This record gives sequence, C-alpha cells and structure tokens, in this order.
Amino acid sequence: MRTVDLIQRKRNGEELSSEEITWLVNGYTKGEIPDYQVSAFLMAVYYQNMTDVEVGAMVESIIASGERLDLSSISGPKVDKHSTGGVGDKTSLISAPLAAAAGVKVPMISGRALGHTGGTLDKLESIPGFRTNLSADEFKDVLDRVGYAVVGQSDTVTPADGKLYALRDATATVESIPLIAASIMSKKLALTLDGLVLDVKVGSGAFMKRQTDARKLAQLMTTIARRHDLRAQALITDMNQPLGYAIGNALEIMEVSQTLQSAGPDDLTRLSVEIAARMIFIAKIVPTLDDARELAYARLRDGSGYRKLKETIEAQGGNSQVLDRFELLPNATGAMEIFAPRGGYVSAIDAEEIGLASSMIGAGRDTKEDSIDPAVGVILEVKVGQKVESGAVLCRLYFTKEDRIQEAAERVEDAFRLSNSEPEPRELILEVVS
Ligand code: URA
Repeated sequence: MRTVDLIQRKRNGEELSSEEITWLVNGYTKGEIPDYQVSAFLMAVYYQNMTDVEVGAMVESIIASGERLDLSSISGPKVDKHSTGGVGDKTSLISAPLAAAAGVKVPMISGRALGHTGGTLDKLESIPGFRTNLSADEFKDVLDRVGYAVVGQSDTVTPADGKLYALRDATATVESIPLIAASIMSKKLALTLDGLVLDVKVGSGAFMKRQTDARKLAQLMTTIARRHDLRAQALITDMNQPLGYAIGNALEIMEVSQTLQSAGPDDLTRLSVEIAARMIFIAKIVPTLDDARELAYARLRDGSGYRKLKETIEAQGGNSQVLDRFELLPNATGAMEIFAPRGGYVSAIDAEEIGLASSMIGAGRDTKEDSIDPAVGVILEVKVGQKVESGAVLCRLYFTKEDRIQEAAERVEDAFRLSNSEPEPRELILEVVS
C-alpha cells in the first residue's frame, strides 16, 4: 500500500477499505507515515466525509493502537461523559464529581484544547501538582477509591488519537463529523464502560454550527455506541455564547469551584446538573430521570460533589486547596477591560471569537508543540439578554504577555452585539438523541 494512493482516493471521494484505514492509522502511530501525508489525508476526509464502514474502522484502529482498559474488577456502574467541545465548557468537572458523589464510577479519558475550544486536561493541569498521566493501575485505583478519575489518551490508551488530535488542531481539520466521532468514541470504547452521556455542542462556539450537523454527529456517535452494546445518550446543547462567565484554564477551575458550591452561573449549573442526572439515570442508580435530577441537585446542594472533586484532585497529586484559595492557581499579571460602545441589550456574544481571542493570548495552541498559559483568558461581565449602559464593562481579558493583547481585544470587542430590543431567550438543551 502507498499512502499517496490512499490520500488520492479519499480526495476523489472513494471509500477506503477497513484494512486501508487500519494500515494508515497504524503507520502514523508508529511514525512510519509522516505528518504531512496524514495532514493531507485529514483534509481529504474533511471535504469528502467518511462512510460508516470507514468510521468504524477508524474507531477500531485507534482503539487497537493502544491497550483496552478492563475496569470489570471495579464495582459499581461505570459511566463517562464527553463534550464535542465548546468555549467556557467546564461541565465535565462539575457533572462528573456530582455523578460520582451519587454512586456512579466515572472513568474519564479527556482531551486537550482543540481549535478555539478548551480541553478538560489543560484546565486540570492548571492545578499545581495535578497529574493527568496516571498509569493504568493508578487510574483504576483512583476510580475505585474516589469514584472519579481523569486521564488523557496516552502511549498506552488510544495513542493514535493523541497524534491525530494534535495534528487536526494544527491543520484546520477539526470540524469533521467522522473525525470527531472517531476521536471521541475510540477514547470511550477503550474502556469497559456501562454508559455514556455525550454533550454535542451546536452554535458559533462549537465545531458544528448547524443543528442538522450536530444531530448527524450525535446519531453517528450513539450508533457506534449501540454497535458496541454501550448505553449512550447525546444532548444537543447551545454553544452560541460561552458557557458560564469564565474562559481560560485556571479561570475555569475557579468557576467550577463556585458552581460546585452552588454559587455558579445559571446556564452552567443547569447543564452540568442535567448531564450528571443523565449519567446517574444511565447508571441505573435510581429508576427515573426525575429521581436522577433530584439526586444530582441534592449532591450539589449538600456539597458532596464539591468534596468529590477535591478528593480526585488530591488522589491525582494536585493541591485541592486551590478550590478555596484561588491565589494558589496560576494568576495573570495584566487585565484589560472591554467597554460597551453604546447602551442596549446584549443580543449575541460570539463564542468562537471569544475562544479564539483567549487562545491567541495563550489559553490554546497555534502549533502542536506549543504550551498553554494556564493563567490567561476572558471573564465575561454580561450574558446574552442583559441590558447594559454605554461604557459598561462587557468583559475583562487576563494576560501575562502583551504581544497579542490588542488583536485579542479587538476580536473580543467584535464578539459582542448590542441591540435596542430584548433578544428572544434561547433554549440551552435543544434535543436528546439516543
Ligand atoms: N473531543 C474529542 O475528544 N475529539 C474531538 O475531535 C472533538 C472533541
């Protein structure tokens, strides 16, 4: 087989066989096929899509690039959640401890920042000492003892996803339904899970801008889950404005802490509790979804979700005091305010622009070798629907280096739309696909 032939056939819209996809993924994982050829292949997929058979082969070959983690020795129902990626989307760090506090075992394989979206691993690594590279035994131990353990794909678990994910991030090939589905589902199926809740984002800050595409992605992922006998549900949720107020790694950890102490933003709290409830329901901890919602809210109100996240942080080597003392987290050295040019209602806050601005000042990566600046980001002062006076502060940019701050500030300023009339409220949870 020759890589160039596979690229050419995919570019021409032909279907590749399972053997060909497997050969390509294996060759790339072993370093036998260079980045530039796989980049061309990914771009061909971006334009030509993949058939179900190709996606299935991609999922299997990414799983087979590493080891499957057998969690059957750990008691209790194992349910994970995964988001397709958003701006200010820190729900994993709220839903997972809430579900774990209700008796679900949550073994989570998370991702890093991708494109303009944030990544759970990068957020957690802003906590001093926190390790996301646990060995399989350490991961199982934390899961068994605490109920919530989180790692990234690694040299042992889905290593192919790690390489492909970073390459997609640097080659503008993230927004592809089959590539997103293969990336997410391979990580989830590399573990022996009992259930999975997917949060498929749609809107300006999501990879899927249209609800029909989000639905296709949700259907593809739940179909893959079904073929593997995994109970799965996907929520399609709005990502037209950032979730909550904080965007940026350490800033988001602060907001997670506030939310788990019942003092978080309404949209973030509602979505996180709904996802936790669905995890609890899928885990069959209680008989109905309404009971699961009640239980998730109870775990929020009684602070046990908050304590659960602290336990996970400690178990993974981090300093859990950061949740009470934000000065222990990396802090920015400069702040810049963005003001409303006139009075009116905030009718839109373009989440993609906010995510890009935050990434530009260091919260994300331009190339796959770049490191993240955990301290930087944006804090919104307003949300869509709010009335503001001329000159009111719309948001603050937090930075540690001045070099791209002006460009970022202009992007952020452009992200806000003001109107004379109050905008129609948008639903946060748009659809459920199972
Ligand atoms: N999350 C992932 O793990 N992979 C993607 O491609 C997008 C979101």
